[in-house]
Amino acid sequence: MPVSGQSFLQPMRELAQDAGALLMSLFGKVAIEYKGDADLVTQADRASEKMIVERIRKQWPDHDLLGEEGSRTQTGSDFRWYIDPLDGTTNFAHGYPVFCVSLALEHQGKRIAGVIYDPTRQEMFSASLGSGAQLNGKPIHVSRTLRLVESLLATGFPSHKRHKNPNIHFYHQITLRSHGIRRAGSAALDLCYVACGRYDAFWEFNLNPWDTAAGVLMVEEAGGKVTNFSGAPFSIESRQVLATNTLLHTELLHEFKEIFEGRVEGLPSVSEYLAG
Ligand code: IPD
Ligand code: CA
Ligand code: CA
Repeated sequence: MPVSGQSFLQPMRELAQDAGALLMSLFGKVAIEYKGDADLVTQADRASEKMIVERIRKQWPDHDLLGEEGSRTQTGSDFRWYIDPLDGTTNFAHGYPVFCVSLALEHQGKRIAGVIYDPTRQEMFSASLGSGAQLNGKPIHVSRTLRLVESLLATGFPSHKRHKNPNIHFYHQITLRSHGIRRAGSAALDLCYVACGRYDAFWEFNLNPWDTAAGVLMVEEAGGKVTNFSGAPFSIESRQVLATNTLLHTELLHEFKEIFEGRVEGLPSVSEYLAG
């Protein structure tokens, strides 16, 4: 039986808001710790996940969950939560105020509800399957930009295995063909900004389910399109995410194909540049 995500949205918003308040209470006060070379974590990531997980386990004790900071419950439940307790950890750890809490709920493999809360701007994004997306309770829609040359986009670079990431080539080529690309440091917020039309598109290599589960639903419910870089439908295991206002999707897929096949504009070398 299909289950409506709508009835979960209010408790999810309350949970994200409380986790956001917890993050704000720790903002500027926590030390940086390392998961890898440049892969940061803080006490705030762990405290936020602990609070969220305790509340979910209390309210929905039979639901499964997957949290970035290690929380796992796998009982074969029809319901599964995806939890990013702090998306934008590097920003948070450096005092740069761009971060959020991201929560999504899946039922029988379909994401039915998602909330993303930015506590620095008090912006609550929410969406449920088939019922649209909202920002602070008001419906949102993707942009109507028709051409890449008139678009503003966003991307991100992972901190884990960053030396193996080819995204700088895509950043370079798409920069030359658009109004520009932002790299604000929170994939969940990047997806929300596509959903509400602030960006026309977003892409990233190597994202995890907790980064994308709520944001992809937000984009789709706001009229956008999300696929991998070959145009295949997004799945929660897809590590590649291309999210657009739908109108730009074909053009961007074409550009990605060109870049993957090496048909790119070269950069001047540093010595060529210095020689004028
Ligand atoms: C990261 C952010 C960042 C993206 C990285 C993610 P975290 O998540 O979303 O924008 O570029 O790939 O890992 O580690 O801050 O939760
Ligand atoms: Ca994340
Ligand atoms: Ca995180």
